[in-house]
Amino acid sequence: MSKIEERQDQSEQSESLPVGPQSTTGTGELIPVYVMGKQYMVPETLTIMKAMEYAGFKFIRGCGCRGGICGACATVYRKEGEYKLRVGLACQTVVEPKMYLTQIPFYPANRARYDFSKITSAPEEIYKLYPELFRCVACNLCTKACPMDVQVMDAISALKQGNIARAATLSFSCIQCGLCASRCMGELPQYHIFQLARRIYGSKIVPRAGHLGQAVTAISEGRYEEWLRMLMEMGEEELRSRYQEREMEPPMAGEDWVPANVEYL
Ligand code: FES
Repeated sequence: MSKIEERQDQSEQSESLPVGPQSTTGTGELIPVYVMGKQYMVPETLTIMKAMEYAGFKFIRGCGCRGGICGACATVYRKEGEYKLRVGLACQTVVEPKMYLTQIPFYPANRARYDFSKITSAPEEIYKLYPELFRCVACNLCTKACPMDVQVMDAISALKQGNIARAATLSFSCIQCGLCASRCMGELPQYHIFQLARRIYGSKIVPRAGHLGQAVTAISEGRYEEWLRMLMEMGEEELRSRYQEREMEPPMAGEDWVPANVEYL
């Protein structure tokens, strides 16, 4: 199934839009972009995703969070006069004149199957499941392709050296878009390998957080049942005002921040 559907009526219409003048939407001048080879005139201020929608495309896949988090909207593009293939997230990258772009479909990289409860923290677990790890030739194309600036090649090198903690930390911002794998000449599924590394790191290497254990115990002992029932019985207005008046953690709060009212902790 295609990631995007083109609504023929609107796309035909968009092709006939003039080059140059202010758009009628008030969102900036119209510029030409090429989606899978076809020209569309779109407002210059839009992201690729919004520009494609403006041009008449409807996202049926490849559009999740719209906030640079889910990795669903990986896009490959080239600018006119350049040989270089560029990459970006359609929901974050703003269009440029004469951008030739396409969205990559679901990328069919190898994803190992495993019973995580039987996996230990030894790096050999990763080597067994992903022996292709050692096909890495350190070309660094994966790092250059990453829209999240993850040091992909360094994280792969860390794994080859048996350092799961470093690989997990380096790949923390990975959003699983698959662009690294799409450019890899060794055909590694870097993003799937990193996911396993982070699972092992979080579950079997990092010391357990004491406060998390206490919270899980409190939940299973029913500490919050009465409060949850109270919330379920509230009307919309009261719920709304409670939500708006709630005490929020300040953006730059330190590790030791606690709310003034600790009744619900
Ligand atoms: S839609 Fe989720 S990262 Fe772009």
